[in-house]
Amino acid sequence: MQKPKIVTKLPGPKAQKLLRKDKKFISPSYTRSYPAVIERGQGCWVWDVDGNKFLDFNAGIAVCSTGHCHHEVVKAIQKQAETLIHMSGTDYYYPLQTELAEKLAEITPGGMNKRAFFCNSGAESVEGAFKLARYMTKRQYAIAFWGAFHGRTMGALSLTGSKVTQRQGFGPLIAGVHHVPYAYCYRCAYNLEYPGCDFACIKHIEDTLFKKTVPPEEVCGIFIEPIQGEGGYVIPPKGYFKRLKALCDKYGILLIADEVQSGMGRSGKMFAMEHYDAMADIYCVAKGIASGMPIGAFVASAGLMSWPSGAHASTFGGNPVCCASAMATIKLLENGLIDNANKVGAVIMKRLETIQAKYPFIGDVRGKGLMIGMELVEDSITKKSIPEKRNSIVFKCFEKGLLMQGCGNSSIRFSPPLVVTQEEAHTALDIFESVLKSF
Ligand SMILES: Cc1ncc(COP(=O)(O)O)c(C=O)c1O
Repeated sequence: MQKPKIVTKLPGPKAQKLLRKDKKFISPSYTRSYPAVIERGQGCWVWDVDGNKFLDFNAGIAVCSTGHCHHEVVKAIQKQAETLIHMSGTDYYYPLQTELAEKLAEITPGGMNKRAFFCNSGAESVEGAFKLARYMTKRQYAIAFWGAFHGRTMGALSLTGSKVTQRQGFGPLIAGVHHVPYAYCYRCAYNLEYPGCDFACIKHIEDTLFKKTVPPEEVCGIFIEPIQGEGGYVIPPKGYFKRLKALCDKYGILLIADEVQSGMGRSGKMFAMEHYDAMADIYCVAKGIASGMPIGAFVASAGLMSWPSGAHASTFGGNPVCCASAMATIKLLENGLIDNANKVGAVIMKRLETIQAKYPFIGDVRGKGLMIGMELVEDSITKKSIPEKRNSIVFKCFEKGLLMQGCGNSSIRFSPPLVVTQEEAHTALDIFESVLKSF
């Protein structure tokens, strides 16, 4: 059975040398929470430059869906790199880009009559979806949610409502974006309980926003993560999206699902929207789609994506090597990895619930598939966030060879590669619990 192996003090000597150079040459705006200097990876395991071996329960921020360097993905990348690396889908055609668009039409909910636009990142997919929504509706306003993270380019950043540091100093942002409370039932903005609340957070949009400040006829889209990722792995209750989509349809507003983190099998379905009985008008994807190769896309019905030539394009978007990696990734997801996300996700959830019962500072455990969050609080009455303690727990996990990341104010996310085995999950949870015991 594989176990993490820490053979030096962390960071080790080679890592320390690299960290000094990094400090000199890399932008300090990055958000590194511990000094992991990684050299290679295989499956759920990564090794740092000093030979320390870590169990990766974050998958490069929910990206390496098929694990690190899956041989099928590596083979597809190598083969494509020997054949054609770049041509630019903006001005030329090549089979792989069209094939991937057809595949995305097939796997996104809502039938085959769809089109895809390819870009290079999650932020770009949201940015493009925002442009498409404005262009096609000829409406200027947009609605997004507190806690949402949609990326850091100007349009995506304007929709982001996660942390003020992400926006501070960058204004004025895109005008006309209005933020409203997300369906964060553990911390309901209205102090109500589901289902008695009757979706007060959706009613607020119609009864307050649309009556006081934002004419609904001028709203192009509601942008939403089906499960909030960076905001704390927050899962809206059953029925939420049906109600939200009904509101959108009533006023001709597009529902734009940002599945950048929740998509590509992570939630136990190809897209997290499939957990709800509602469909989005536009799906944004990136992260897990190509196991670490940089590609994003947004997908909409052919009728909606009917803007003219020149309205939007990207030199690198849908690069052949990235498309090859995405095709190999999707095949692996369809042929067992989504099932595995459900199976191992259930094992992790069950064990986390047992752990929760033992530690009063664990306020909430929530998850779907391998998108699992644990919210830490001072106590269950005040529910006061304890970000310092959360950060210390994440750091101690690192010191014991387990790579975790926080999310939200005070939560920890469990987002391993979808190839994770039950055995690896128990190894991670043994380490995690040994860390909790020391607090
Ligand atoms: C839901 C969501 N949307 C968009 C983004 C931005 O993606 P990227 O960092 O690739 O631009 C992220 C990144 O964390 C995300 O989680």
